[in-house]
Amino acid sequence: MSASKPPSVCLVTGGAGFIGCAISAELGARFDHVVAVDSLHPQVHKSGARPVALHSSVELIKADVTEVSTWDNVLATHRPNVVVHLAAETGTGQSLTEANRHALVNVVGTTQMLDAFARHQLIPQRIVLSSSRAVYGEGAWESETGGITYPGQRSAAMLSSGTWDFPGLTSLPFSANKTETRPTSVYGSTKLAQEHILESWAQSFGVSLNILRLQNVYGPGQSLTNPYTGIVSLFARLAKAGKSIPLYEDGEMRRDFVFITDVAAAIVAATQEHHTGVLADIGTGESLSIRELAEIIASIYGAPAPHVTGQYRNGDVRHAACTIDIARSQMNWMPQVDVHTGIQKLCTWIDERPEELPAL
Ligand SMILES: NC(=O)c1ccc[n+]([C@@H]2O[C@H](COP(=O)([O-])OP(=O)(O)OC[C@H]3O[C@@H](n4cnc5c(N)ncnc54)[C@H](O)[C@@H]3O)[C@@H](O)[C@H]2O)c1
Repeated sequence: MSASKPPSVCLVTGGAGFIGCAISAELGARFDHVVAVDSLHPQVHKSGARPVALHSSVELIKADVTEVSTWDNVLATHRPNVVVHLAAETGTGQSLTEANRHALVNVVGTTQMLDAFARHQLIPQRIVLSSSRAVYGEGAWESETGGITYPGQRSAAMLSSGTWDFPGLTSLPFSANKTETRPTSVYGSTKLAQEHILESWAQSFGVSLNILRLQNVYGPGQSLTNPYTGIVSLFARLAKAGKSIPLYEDGEMRRDFVFITDVAAAIVAATQEHHTGVLADIGTGESLSIRELAEIIASIYGAPAPHVTGQYRNGDVRHAACTIDIARSQMNWMPQVDVHTGIQKLCTWIDERPEELPAL
């Protein structure tokens, strides 16, 4: 660094969470200083202590992004040129009954940050938002004659009668430059609001904004105590205890499970100067059914075969898959970890910390 050049500072909201910890070492290597602002939400951080996985180079400020005083304190001493905005309430199902909490953190938390930038006359060069596949809802489906339709949310009547799919339609993978955003959960709506707010603001101030819509992220480091997220770790805990994994609906709903190190690489890439104006889906580009996921995990632990319960969760979409062409072409990003390898790594990590596993 030359003597006259100001230090490069990266601010990471929600930086002590699963993804925040996973990007911390690499950001520490790329920036002169990394500051994580995180409330250490008790649903995610059971002990309330600084996570061991958060790289030692990162300064952690325990504070709430929804509070004005947080931002005034942080910006009084730090002038970030890059912001990675991860802080969020993330429970899809939970957001139906705790809508206000999700809106407060995800929407107002974002606008508090932007107003604080104005108060402190700070215009960062770049903002990276971790958005979600939840912004698509059920996404686009194709009819037998090739027509594209957006069937919207599955009705209560459909779900209670066990009609899981939209009859005569086939689900298409999400693509950020094609698929319309039609969230079916409050969580998804708040993630879309984050996108819109940041797009308007960044456009007005000439700030580079990169938005990554993440599919289901899993891997070592994910919270083992948060009951509202983390189907892979939940299944692993059940199978490890010798139980048959229960499958909601008919077990055939599909998801794209993307490994944490691949997601971390995409987010770190999005903080770099040569990537700007990216709106991309981050997944493996392949999906598997929840039954297939459960069978892989059951076989790792020698657990009994998974069983269908027919239960369902309001707000859940039937299928979620994506194309990763945009991330590949615009950021030269490709996932490196296949799902079998990734699940094995997660199971090994879970096996190493039996004392952290909550009772089932
Ligand atoms: N993990 C996934 O599968 C996934 C998928 C799609 C999108 N995302 C997005 O990625 C981001 C990070 O997700 P994650 O998996 O690391 O979740 P996480 O829950 O592990 O991390 C979120 C962090 O935000 C913090 N936080 C919550 N409320 C806060 C507040 N009011 N003030 C300050 N900090 C607060 C929490 O303490 C936590 O450390 C979120 O924006 C989420 O919407 C995650």
